[in-house]
Amino acid sequence: MIHIKTQADHDKYTKMARTDRDGFWREASASFFWRKAPKLISQGKLGEKVTWFEDSLLNLSENCLDRHMASKANQTALIWEPNSPDAPSRSFTYRELKREVEVFANTLKKLGVKKGDRVVIYMAMIPELMFSVLACARIGAVHCVVFAGFSAKSLSARIEDSGAEFIIISSGAARGAKCIPLKGIVDDALMMSPRVKTCLAIKHTDEALSMKTPRDVWYHEASIGVSDSCEAVSVSGEDPLFILYTSGSTGKPKGLLHTTAGYMVYAEYTFRNVFQVQQGDLFWCTADLGWITGHTYLTYGPLLSGATTLMFEGIPTWPDASRFWQVIDRHQVTHFYTAPTAIRTLEAFGLTPFTGVALDSLKVLGSVGEPINEEAWQWYFENVGRSRVPIVDTWWQTETGGIMISTLAGVTPALPTFATLPLPGVEPVLLNSDGKEVATQAGEGALCIKEPWPGMARTVFGDWQRYQDTYLKAYPGYYFTGDGAKRDDHGNYRITGRIDDIIIVSGHNIGTAEVEDALDLHPSVVESAVVGYSHPVKGQGIHGFLICSDPSIDRDKLKSELLTLVTRELGPIAKPERFQVVAGLPKTRSGKIMRRILRKIAEAETKDFGDVSTLLNPEIVDQILKAEIF
Ligand code: WT7
Repeated sequence: MIHIKTQADHDKYTKMARTDRDGFWREASASFFWRKAPKLISQGKLGEKVTWFEDSLLNLSENCLDRHMASKANQTALIWEPNSPDAPSRSFTYRELKREVEVFANTLKKLGVKKGDRVVIYMAMIPELMFSVLACARIGAVHCVVFAGFSAKSLSARIEDSGAEFIIISSGAARGAKCIPLKGIVDDALMMSPRVKTCLAIKHTDEALSMKTPRDVWYHEASIGVSDSCEAVSVSGEDPLFILYTSGSTGKPKGLLHTTAGYMVYAEYTFRNVFQVQQGDLFWCTADLGWITGHTYLTYGPLLSGATTLMFEGIPTWPDASRFWQVIDRHQVTHFYTAPTAIRTLEAFGLTPFTGVALDSLKVLGSVGEPINEEAWQWYFENVGRSRVPIVDTWWQTETGGIMISTLAGVTPALPTFATLPLPGVEPVLLNSDGKEVATQAGEGALCIKEPWPGMARTVFGDWQRYQDTYLKAYPGYYFTGDGAKRDDHGNYRITGRIDDIIIVSGHNIGTAEVEDALDLHPSVVESAVVGYSHPVKGQGIHGFLICSDPSIDRDKLKSELLTLVTRELGPIAKPERFQVVAGLPKTRSGKIMRRILRKIAEAETKDFGDVSTLLNPEIVDQILKAEIF
C-alpha cells in the first residue's frame, strides 16, 4: 500500500514511479488479498496490448468485504439515505454487507449466472444496486451498469452490445417528487432485446407491474431459502470486471472494459491518497452508480480501503435546495464529492438553504466531471467548506478507471480551476499540433498520457480496433484523452475542455453524432448538427442547427417533437436546449461540417470566425447568424 502523507512523500513517490515503475505499483498492490500474488506487474506499451498483474489470482468482492472481517466486521460499510427525508435510512456493517452480497451472489448463481457472463444492471440508487455489483464480482460475472435515466432504446443497445442474457432491475426509481417506472422502460427494451432470458427485479416503488413469466423474477422470492455463504471465485488479474458505456465522437456508445487486478489496485491507491480518509470518517460521493464515479468512489475505492460510504437516492433540490446540507449534518459526513453542475445548481438558490446547518463535520470537498469555474469554486469553498476545508478538483475519465490529476487533500496545495498535479505514477504530457511534447514547463496542448497505468480500460468491449482508433492512433505511443489542457510554471494542470466532438452536459458525456442521429429521425429534419455552448448551470448546453424540408415549419411544435424524440432515443439528459432552422451548414470541400464556426455562433459571437477559405459555402455563416433561436 502506498500512503502519501506529505509533499515530500509526493516528490519521493513521483520519482520512484519514474525510475522503478513496476516497483512502485508492486508496492501499491501489497496490502490486498491475493489468492496468487502477482509476479508480473506491467506488460506492454501504450499502442499495444497492456496487462497488469496478469499472473495473479484474486477476487475483488473478497478484497472489499472478507478482507476486513478481522478488524472491521462491525464497522459501518454503507449508509443509505433514501429519496424522501422522512423515510428511514438504512445502514450495513461490513459483516452485514458481506452477508447481503453473498445472498445476492447465490441468487444469481441459482438463476444460472456464471463466471464471465455479462449482467446488465438498471436500477434506482438503492443498496441492492451495490449488492448486485459486488455479487457479480464475487462470482466472476461482468457487471454492466446502465444509468437508470437512459431510454429503453439506449438500454437495449447496451444489452445487445454486451451480449447480456441477464438483467437486474428495480421496479421503479424515486427521484425527487418524481417516480420513474423503470420496469415499463425495461419491458420496452426487452421487446427489442429478446436475448435476455432472465430479468431479476427488486421491488422498490409501489406501482402496479406486470411480470412476464418465466422471464421476470422477483428478488424477494428468488432469494428465499438461499444460503448466506458464498465462496468468492478466483479470477485472474486480467479477467474482466465490468463494462461501462460512454459516448463516442462518432457512432454508438463505447463499452469500456475494465479488468480486475489493475482496477482494484488503482481504485484503492487513488481513493486513499486523494481523499485521505481516516478511521471514523464518512465519505459521500453523490454520483450515481451508473457512472464511473459511482463505481470507483461510491463503491470500490471506499470498500477496498475499509471506509464508510454513503449512498443517496435523491436529488440536491428536493424537497428543497438544503437537502445535501441536511444529509451532511444528519450523518456527519466528513468527505463530500460532487460535480460542478450540482454546485452551480445550488448556487442559484442563494444562501437561505444554509440556514440552520452546521456543516462542521466536513474535512474535505471534491469536484469531478467537468472543469469547475472560479466562481463556483469560491462559492463551494466559502459556503460549504466555510473557508477551512481543502477542495480536491479531480480530473479523470471512464477510460482511466480512477483519478489521474488532482490535489491530494491536505497534502498538496489546491489552486482554483486547476486539477493541479498528476498522482505519482501518472505521466501526463501536452502535445502540440505537430504531435510533439510541449517541452517547456508552462504550455498548452492536447492532454495525453505517456505511460500505462493499472486502472486504464483495456479495450472497447468486442472492438479493439475502435479502442486503438479512439485513444491510441491520434498520437502514436500516447493515450489521447480527448481533452485540452494548460500547464503553469509549477507543473499544475488546468483542463480546458474537450477538443473532440463530445459535449459535457451536467457532467454527462454526450456525443454529437448520437444526438444528430436522433434529430434526423424527425420527418421534417433533413440534416442536423449539434454543438455545445457555455451554460451557466449545466456547464455546457446543446445547440442544434436544423435543415428542414419546410423552412417555415412551426418552431414550437418542432421543438417539442424533437425533445420527445431525443428523450425516447437517448434519454432526457441528451435534450438540446435550443435550436435554429438554417438553410445550410458550413461545410468544407470534403463535406465535413466545420463545427468550430457553429460553436462560435452558439456562443453568440457574431464575427471573427477565423479562416473560412476552405468552406464550400462561406455565405451560409451570415444566414445562420440571422436565423431565429428557439
Ligand atoms: C471527461 C470524462 C471522471 C468521472 C466523471 C466523468 C471531463 C472530468 C474533470 C475535471 C475538468 C473534467 C473531461 C473528461 N472531466 N473531470 N476535474 N476537470 N474536466 O467521466 O463521463 O468519462 O468524462 O469529463 O472532459 O475527459 P466521463
